Amino acid sequence: MVTVDTNTNNEDHLTNLIKEIDWLEIQKLDDSHDTSKFCCGETKNHEDLDAFIKEDALTQQKQNINVTYVAVAKDTSEVIGFVTILNDRLRVSNAEKEDMKITAKYSDFPATKIGRLAVNKKHVNKKVATNMLRFVMGLALESADKIGCRFLIVDSYPESSDFYIQKGYLKNQVQDQTRTKFIKQKPDGSKDIIDKTQRETISLRYDLLNLK
Ligand SMILES: CC(C)(COP(=O)(O)OP(=O)(O)OC[C@H]1O[C@@H](n2cnc3c(N)ncnc32)[C@H](O)[C@@H]1OP(=O)(O)O)[C@@H](O)C(=O)NCCC(=O)NCCS
Repeated sequence: MVTVDTNTNNEDHLTNLIKEIDWLEIQKLDDSHDTSKFCCGETKNHEDLDAFIKEDALTQQKQNINVTYVAVAKDTSEVIGFVTILNDRLRVSNAEKEDMKITAKYSDFPATKIGRLAVNKKHVNKKVATNMLRFVMGLALESADKIGCRFLIVDSYPESSDFYIQKGYLKNQVQDQTRTKFIKQKPDGSKDIIDKTQRETISLRYDLLNLK
């Protein structure tokens, strides 16, 4: 039974609830959820994640582009974490296919993609993300059974890749590259076109036939 101290402000109330209960509820995002206070950090990547949950997630979900699940403490509507998933495919190298004993002659295999994952910075290290990943794995296994899905995949920010690796994810051999062209001004005033091939994220997979 969760007791609520009515003297505390909303934020303390939420923190207390999370300390007191040993589970979170994970729900499909809808209009009733409060995303207004969500903040997962200060970097540009963090700001993009914050803007996504506040401004785009519900619209994209209504357009069947992806689905967002949110973590909330019981009896509250404030979003403390979210994960966005969608259908995708993974290109697998011949060596990886051999390792995984995949005999089909395809190169691409069905996957559930984690498009975005973030936890409010005030609530990190409380296993919110771990629980959301477990929840998503359940959905992917259901999809594996009913539709066909071999992998959970994610394009992780480099600084977060160890989080996934710790959970049993492996780095993919095929890392798509993003080609960026930009103009750089030289000291003499003339301009150079720089054509740079780069990847800002790391592609990782979790094999749903090899649960860890
Ligand atoms: C990364 C993030 C999702 C983790 O959420 P969380 O709810 O704090 O994670 P959990 O509490 O479930 O797991 C904590 C564990 O992961 C580890 N961890 C957290 N962030 C990590 C990182 N960037 N690199 C390596 N390990 C990390 C913690 O050290 C802790 O390890 P322990 O279980 O051995 O103590 C969260 O910090 C976040 O939202 N960061 C900003 C957005 C982001 O990077 N999202 C991922 C985008 S691909």
